[in-house]
Amino acid sequence: MRFVLPKGRLFKGSLEILRKAGIELKPPENRELMVQNGKYELLLARAFDVPVYVEYGVDVGIAGSDVVEERESDVLVPLELPFGKCRLSLAMPKENVVSVEEMDGFRIATKYPNLARKFFERRGVEVEVIKLHGSIELAPKIGIADAIVDIVETGNTLRANGLVEVEKIMDVSALLLVNRISQKTKFKEINELVLKIKEVVKDEF
Ligand code: PRP
Ligand code: MG
Repeated sequence: MRFVLPKGRLFKGSLEILRKAGIELKPPENRELMVQNGKYELLLARAFDVPVYVEYGVDVGIAGSDVVEERESDVLVPLELPFGKCRLSLAMPKENVVSVEEMDGFRIATKYPNLARKFFERRGVEVEVIKLHGSIELAPKIGIADAIVDIVETGNTLRANGLVEVEKIMDVSALLLVNRISQKTKFKEINELVLKIKEVVKDEF
């Protein structure tokens, strides 16, 4: 069975929950991105690509609900996991806060262009979206954007950069992802895995 895990913030929590569920995956000691652990294979990917790998054939993955929604990946989600809790929010410089309805013509910096566009479309507000790959909080600080759509966990990054959260767009959590075909061809193994993780979650959280 193949697992794809995100190299970033969810990596440790992902290894830990799988280990508690009886699946010991050892990360590679060198720069290798794929490593065999007995009958399991571990693939290391960028967070935004994990759902894509699962959609196109990797049996199981763990990714945030933010990236699953952003990539609109066609994957099964048998379980929400008890870590990676944060939110996707709209934030603005604290000295010019306006309501969403007053944001026509605003420029929004984000790693989540699809989710940002959908949010403003639902509200009937026309904005320009600039896609960046990180350090989003920088864009309004130097004046290339009027607001951002980004992840907020503690709120420290917003505060440190003079921004305030204006609206929560969605709650985010780590999710267990399963490939649609694997769910059929590896039915027994995958169901066992899901049941074991459910037990771990119930016992510990
Ligand atoms: C994430 C996110 C926010 C910050 C939120 O960035 O994009 O900037 O963490 O956490 P906080 O509310 O606890 O401050 P990350 O550090 O992963 O870097 P990146 O945006 O450059 O990818
Ligand atoms: Mg950031």
